Amino acid sequence: MILVTGSAGFIGANFVLDWLARHDEAVIGLDKLTYAGNLESLASVKNDPRHIFVHGDIGDAELTGQLLKQYRPRAIVNFAAESHVDRSIHGPEEFIQTNIVGTFHLLEAVRTYWSVLTDEEKTGFRFLHVSTDEVYGSLAKDEPAFGETHRYEPNSPYSASKAASDHLVRAYHHTYGLPVLTTNCSNNYGPYHFPEKLIPLMIVNALAGKPLPVYGDGQQIRDWLYVKDHCSAIRCVLEKGTPGEVYNVGGWNEKANLDIVHTVCALLDELSPRTDGKSYREQIAFVTDRPGHDRRYAIDARKIECELDWKPAETFETGIRKTVQWYLDNRDWVSNVQSGSYRQWLEKNYAGRGR
Ligand code: NAD
Ligand code: DAU
Repeated sequence: MILVTGSAGFIGANFVLDWLARHDEAVIGLDKLTYAGNLESLASVKNDPRHIFVHGDIGDAELTGQLLKQYRPRAIVNFAAESHVDRSIHGPEEFIQTNIVGTFHLLEAVRTYWSVLTDEEKTGFRFLHVSTDEVYGSLAKDEPAFGETHRYEPNSPYSASKAASDHLVRAYHHTYGLPVLTTNCSNNYGPYHFPEKLIPLMIVNALAGKPLPVYGDGQQIRDWLYVKDHCSAIRCVLEKGTPGEVYNVGGWNEKANLDIVHTVCALLDELSPRTDGKSYREQIAFVTDRPGHDRRYAIDARKIECELDWKPAETFETGIRKTVQWYLDNRDWVSNVQSGSYRQWLEKNYAGRGR
């Protein structure tokens, strides 16, 4: 079996669902169930005998040590993290605790477990660390996309904490020989995305008749990948990647934020028009920029494409249509994540931000 941390989050849940749809191999999911973890995203596999869910913290080495001993996974995919840049600006401490200290404790538990495996099991074992393109910092308009050897230049507490975790993972390979793999992916979108991030926030706010807050001039560029393509890339790296190597994952889909918001509005105008006949674009509101806002991210995905023969299945046009339709079809999931703490977060991040 494999162990998946952060399995109740956006990408982790998509990964578990896709894994169980494709493999007979069981999954043990470990998640702290922070505000971002949601067992409703895993409801369809709740009673699947191949799926075991454990509520716990990657930083609890006693728990992870016990799980590793009991279930003897052949691989670990580490998604668990604090993942929202804006939250890291308002309160960085949790990011240090989970992304750095938590990853360290997880690595220690894994090293202890791995060191007593048989030689054959040791060689076959994999620790796949899921990281982000944000560790490379920000690109100017005409700079080439991030390759795997691009310098690390993280700019937010979130990206700095992810960069630190990448370095720890690398060190455990070089020092102890742990067979690690690291993936650095660009912005994901798709089903089960918590509506604090750009695309789901725009869909949810539009349908609720609320403003669509665009930071600064809306010309910041992100490189978008449909979440199921990220999951297929991780399966591919797990199967074919070389231990110690880093693979950048992206779909060559650079878009300015304002263009993303316009696309979401156009799809909603088509699929769920406003009752007054006007476009959802009317709800766009330019607000004060994110402090230290990275201007552009772009991934050079040639290594994973050429060496591992991976390609995304979706274009941005097919993926964003599926995503908008998913939010229209899953209004219960959306309303159930809009708790009191979610509303408090919106108040904290957006109140007083008007321009
Ligand atoms: P998410 O915030 O939706 O989910 C994170 C999950 O981790 C949640 O279920 C949360 O409960 C869990 N978690 C947090 N702290 C934990 C801890 N101490 N122990 C156990 N579980 C804990 O994040 P996501 O968007 O699904 O991102 C998953 C991973 O992928 C992260 O490592 C992130 O850095 C990386 N990543 C995300 C994107 C993206 O666009 N979302 C892109 C590239 C890389
Ligand atoms: O690049 C990969 C990263 O993508 C991941 O590592 C992170 O975990 C993930 O959250 C995401 O980070 P971003 O900061 O790029 O994503 P977010 O959805 O928060 O913002 C996308 C862009 O949209 C960014 O330029 C900020 C802007 N934005 C965001 C929000 C929430 C707005 O203009 N308005 C908003 O309300």
